[in-house]
Amino acid sequence: MKKVLFVGKNSQFNNAISLNLDVILKIEVVFKAKIEDVVEYLKGGAEVVDLIIVANMVNEKHTAVEIYKHLQTYQMEVPLVSMEKDNIGEKVIRRMVPDRPVEEIISEIAEILKITPEVEDEFTPEFFPIPIKYYYFIDEIFVHTYIRIKKENNPDHYVMRFRKGDMYIKGDIKKYYEKGVSYFYVKHNDRLYFVNEVTDRIINKLQSELADDSEKLALLEDCNDIVSGLLLTRGMSEETVKLAKASMKKMEEIVHTFPKLGDLMKLLLDNPTSFRFRRTQLTTYVAFHIVANMEWGSTEQQEKLAFVAYFHDITLQCDKYAMIKNNEGVIAANLNQFDEQTIVYHARKAAELVRDYPRLPIGADTIILRHHGTMSGRGFAKTFSNNLEPLTVVFLIAEAYANYLLEYYGDITNEEIMTELNIDFPKSQYRRIIKTLANFEF
Ligand SMILES: [Fe+2]
Repeated sequence: MKKVLFVGKNSQFNNAISLNLDVILKIEVVFKAKIEDVVEYLKGGAEVVDLIIVANMVNEKHTAVEIYKHLQTYQMEVPLVSMEKDNIGEKVIRRMVPDRPVEEIISEIAEILKITPEVEDEFTPEFFPIPIKYYYFIDEIFVHTYIRIKKENNPDHYVMRFRKGDMYIKGDIKKYYEKGVSYFYVKHNDRLYFVNEVTDRIINKLQSELADDSEKLALLEDCNDIVSGLLLTRGMSEETVKLAKASMKKMEEIVHTFPKLGDLMKLLLDNPTSFRFRRTQLTTYVAFHIVANMEWGSTEQQEKLAFVAYFHDITLQCDKYAMIKNNEGVIAANLNQFDEQTIVYHARKAAELVRDYPRLPIGADTIILRHHGTMSGRGFAKTFSNNLEPLTVVFLIAEAYANYLLEYYGDITNEEIMTELNIDFPKSQYRRIIKTLANFEF
């Protein structure tokens, strides 16, 4: 068995690498956090270790350089690679770029050590990607689960990471996710079974009475990410609809749980949720308030707006893109063509996707299409016309309000937000709706 000496702080990233070295490459990993301990360990001779990986500087010293000098002094021929951010010693020490998925790093280490990962079947094309977050919801692995190992100029390898029947360790999965691994893989034939099973478990969890609000938010956010992923990969399937319904219901419940907006803001800001999730929840909250204060408002309209809030940005899979509010923002983001198109057409794409939703709330697709004020769902309107449907106007204002809250909460009053909104939406049709916010309290 090969042995790697891993030098660095005890971080989640380093743990994830050492875990993968162990599991995938069957390498024994020895962890050392201090140079003195490394030196002590190397007294055993060059044969005690096959590779030294320096993950990061220890106590601000250039650790790789120190170890290199030691190896030179004692004429030990041990390969040494450095993942330190600092480039000192790069000329003589092999450098490994740290900020990338763990699986790529493991691949590179395998190459250095000239070993091949244990491969299940090199030529099977039938692996199916499963977003890693699905695994948050299960306690036991019920289908064999694989990791993909990318190989330059070679077919990808799929290595079994969890075996059917394994009791599942949540911490392991989160480590993979935090370090940029987005997918596990299952055999193609297992995929429907897997997705159905996980869907049922998530819904059960969502429907159970969760006493802890933080847990509820984390569950909801994961669930929304899964809906977004399912929608983009499989369209409006039965599972997508089931999950979306359950989590929309929960988001509506949250609105009713917090009669004071300030309490909801506190909960949202105290928990590590994404901007997209926060904005969806807040937009729903504000829209409910507006509708409740309109003469023609109804519960049906509130539910329609909750649906719109849930799906309107569903094709934007990162906060950076969801934060873009105008055409200038798109240009300033300096994106590649694909990402730029994704943003410019996100409203249109979302409207197309929801049209397959069974018993779609009437007109919800049109509100989604026009949620940035353009009639065609392309880009962002510069000025807001009187031709938009009243409920679209409600949504536009609710989301703009949520944006102000998220940007300035703590430094802005309800009156100040209303003043800003009156500047953003000067036409009388809009101002009438903004007025319904007059009695809104934080
Ligand atoms: Fe949007």
